[in-house]
Amino acid sequence: MFEIIKKKTLAANIVAFDVLAPRVAKAALPGQFVIIIADQYAERVPLTITDYNREKGTVQVVIQALGPSTQKINLFNEGDSFHSFVGPLGQASEFVHMDLEDLNKKKYLFVGGGLGAAPVYPQVKWLHDHGIASQVIIGSKSKDLVILEEEMKQVAEKVYIATDDGSKGFKGLVTDCLEDLVKKGHHYDHCVAIGPMVMMKYISLLTKKLGIPTTVSLNPIMVDGTGMCGACRCTVAGKTKFACVHGPEFDGHQVDFDEAMQRQRQYADVEKLKGGDGYG
Ligand code: FES
Repeated sequence: MFEIIKKKTLAANIVAFDVLAPRVAKAALPGQFVIIIADQYAERVPLTITDYNREKGTVQVVIQALGPSTQKINLFNEGDSFHSFVGPLGQASEFVHMDLEDLNKKKYLFVGGGLGAAPVYPQVKWLHDHGIASQVIIGSKSKDLVILEEEMKQVAEKVYIATDDGSKGFKGLVTDCLEDLVKKGHHYDHCVAIGPMVMMKYISLLTKKLGIPTTVSLNPIMVDGTGMCGACRCTVAGKTKFACVHGPEFDGHQVDFDEAMQRQRQYADVEKLKGGDGYG
């Protein structure tokens, strides 16, 4: 059993849980995910690790209540325990294996759309902890749905907010905000975009035009996270990959997004039942 040490509401229906799981915390790296089984009757729900504390032995996940499984998880409280909390799974973000001196020469821009700001956070924090400054765009529909702004400001060189309705920060989509920053003379060597599939698709199209290598996370198409169900099968650079085994992060310029989005629609009913990272 895995005890919930802390529960915090980030926005309507969006909750962060700090879960006591020392072995997962010890091995966790940015980009990886865990599978939660809330109780003995619950479905498996794959969720990206959004923070970890090796000293306290805790791992944080952020969950948006979308379907019955995620609604069930979000009803858990501090002191309750999850039946199962398996991980870390999947591959870590590419930069954790890079030479720090080389990494230090690169300017990273992270784009977190909706719930996607949560998996962006541990990546920005990892770079910050290794002395590397990066910038972040947090995008959401409106100011009430902006999550982790204060936490992100602690670890990022600069945080830009973009809201569709203009209620906070830049008025417009994250793609518009990114284009605006580049027009204003900002230079980025690499972009990491995590959010709804359609957002990742259009960020990748834009960054391809701008010549900025881009990483995306295909966690939203995962269902059971084990390499068994086949739901996360995708095509990257013409080759078949499984997001939960080979990813979830891939080169955004090489992902066949139309196929991935079609697959996501195909599994929409399963998604409704199970929940998971929809990235809002
Ligand atoms: Fe089922 Fe990857 S999520 S095979």
